[in-house]
Amino acid sequence: MNVLVTGGMGYIGSHTCIQLLQANITPIIFDNLYNSKASVTSRLHEVTGQELAFVKGDIRDKELLVSTMRQYNIDAVIHFAGLKAVGESVQKPLEYYDNNVNGTLVLVDAMREAGVNSLIFSSSATVYGDPHTVPITEDFPTSATNPYGRSKLMVEECLTDFQKANPDWSITLLRYFNPVGSHQSGRLGEDPQGIPNNLMPFVAQVAVGRREYLSVFGDDYATPDGTGVRDYIHVMDLADGHIAALTKVGDRSGLHTFNLGTGNGSSVLDMVKAFEQASGKSIAYKIAPRRAGDIAECWADPAKAEKELGWKATRSLQQMTQDTWRWQSENPNGYPE
Ligand code: NAD
Ligand code: WQD
Repeated sequence: MNVLVTGGMGYIGSHTCIQLLQANITPIIFDNLYNSKASVTSRLHEVTGQELAFVKGDIRDKELLVSTMRQYNIDAVIHFAGLKAVGESVQKPLEYYDNNVNGTLVLVDAMREAGVNSLIFSSSATVYGDPHTVPITEDFPTSATNPYGRSKLMVEECLTDFQKANPDWSITLLRYFNPVGSHQSGRLGEDPQGIPNNLMPFVAQVAVGRREYLSVFGDDYATPDGTGVRDYIHVMDLADGHIAALTKVGDRSGLHTFNLGTGNGSSVLDMVKAFEQASGKSIAYKIAPRRAGDIAECWADPAKAEKELGWKATRSLQQMTQDTWRWQSENPNGYPE
């Protein structure tokens, strides 16, 4: 089976390619390198022992997509490509709607032309907005508070309408909670450009000496220690979730929606403590004001994915922090140029 992996050079996509190969599925990476480096291919080669096909291109380039799908006899698409920084999306909404919404529409149009009708889409827990309660099941109401979140919600709605009109298609919406960690080899990991927006890469950069201290955004939430609670999931568990979706429902027509989370909530201070244990470094932090748009707590009910996909996250907080530390300490400046 040949799978086109858009955004396959990025954080989650590259880890998923490793698990695809493990499952004897051939990934063909399609990425414009907007937020990733070409050296990811040599790291993938090192870890898997295999040469992966990589096409440098933009998902808004329909012709290139169609010819790539034909050339490689693509059976299904896993669609990671997109922009993902919440704060930046507020400053650059057009770029976000163009890349994320328009890009997905062009991709689906290209799939239609190439005769490929199985799609897995990277959605996000952000589509639940500020949930009225936790844990969150897939039938919770959706809403968005920023252009990034709205772009994910719009794509979900477009794909839902498209699938209704094209009932022979299989479309799977995977709503990720908070992906962290890295491949256990320490050769692949998350490599944010500039100041990290997300907690885990920021903590890792404090530990390695690239940042002085962590700002903890608020300690007055209605949570056990006052700091925000999230469902952190190991990126390799997330990668396995894609293989499960592809093999269990990728050839079953319909619209399928799954939460990919662990079902456990951890606070910012829990994560700091876990990281200190994993790294043996102490993490300096200061309590700062709440970050605009943040919610108090968010974690998944992952029962549907377990029941229907036979998938469940198995890696512990200790593995998430140990693997992050191995990647960060052995690659303090991320991937080479
Ligand atoms: P990432 O930025 O590391 O990877 C995305 C990849 O897509 C990059 O390699 C980038 O170069 C590529 N890309 C961007 N626009 C493109 C375009 N127009 N054409 C071709 N390639 C393009 O991000 P990630 O963390 O791996 O996230 C992957 C997907 O998962 C994204 O859609 C993101 O919104 C979604 N997601 C991420 C998180 C998270 O916290 N990391 C959580 C929920 C959902
Ligand atoms: C986690 C917790 C922060 C940084 C975001 C997106 C979401 C999804 C995942 C893509 C919160 C706190 C963080 C820092 C801190 N992405 N924090 N200091 O906000 O849950 O989700 O990434 O789809 O859409 O919104 O993740 O890692 O930014 O924050 O105190 O420097 O850490 O307040 O409680 P978040 P995060």
